[in-house]
Amino acid sequence: MTAQQAELTQTALRDGRIVTIRPLDEGDYTALLAFGAALPQDDLLYLENDFQSPDIIRRLVNASAAENWRQIVAVSDGAIVGYSAVRRLAGWSSHVADIHLTVSSGWRRNGLGTAMAQAIFDAARDLGVNKVIVEMLERQNAGRAIFERLGFRVEGTLNQHARDRHGERHNLLILAYHVS
Ligand SMILES: CC(C)(COP(=O)(O)OP(=O)(O)OC[C@H]1O[C@@H](n2cnc3c(N)ncnc32)[C@H](O)[C@@H]1OP(=O)(O)O)[C@@H](O)C(=O)NCCC(=O)NCCS
Repeated sequence: MTAQQAELTQTALRDGRIVTIRPLDEGDYTALLAFGAALPQDDLLYLENDFQSPDIIRRLVNASAAENWRQIVAVSDGAIVGYSAVRRLAGWSSHVADIHLTVSSGWRRNGLGTAMAQAIFDAARDLGVNKVIVEMLERQNAGRAIFERLGFRVEGTLNQHARDRHGERHNLLILAYHVS
């Protein structure tokens, strides 16, 4: 068994569907491309990378074994239905990592976001960082609820810092968890 196979977790969602939560691997290119193509437009703005660009998807998949980066997917019947990443920052914040988390719209409200947040938080600890942050719009209640339950707290607000696809500006929250 490879190390990655050893990290497979089967999770039963509230509606009875079963997903496998596991690290992204090199064979996930087509499935990750399909996941990105199906995301609502608003979610695409939230993501650090352009999930509709085949080049970016290739770069993410190629980085599946990168030292300072952990990427986790939720898979059902070969389809990726959730993606999460944690990446160590550079320079004077190299003791800090930031998290991104997105669940396919048809899979929300069933506990998958919570399960993936726990998995990526564990991966962040595995990176050996002292602090983990997650950014979200002030109005993104779901993300805030999930990470506050894990012990994250709002550490800052950047006013009018994010623009949606209609050009409207929103406050950006930074939630943080201090590991040590
Ligand atoms: C945030 C996101 C990952 C949540 O995924 P999910 O699978 O729906 O999460 P869960 O089912 O585990 O929900 C966790 C909690 O969030 C809250 N929540 C979820 N959806 C919500 C909504 N639409 N409105 C208000 N609260 C909501 C609830 O408290 C919920 O817990 P409960 O169902 O026990 O009441 C998903 O909505 C998403 O991908 N959003 C777009 C990207 C994003 O906003 N990321 C936020 C930064 S982390």
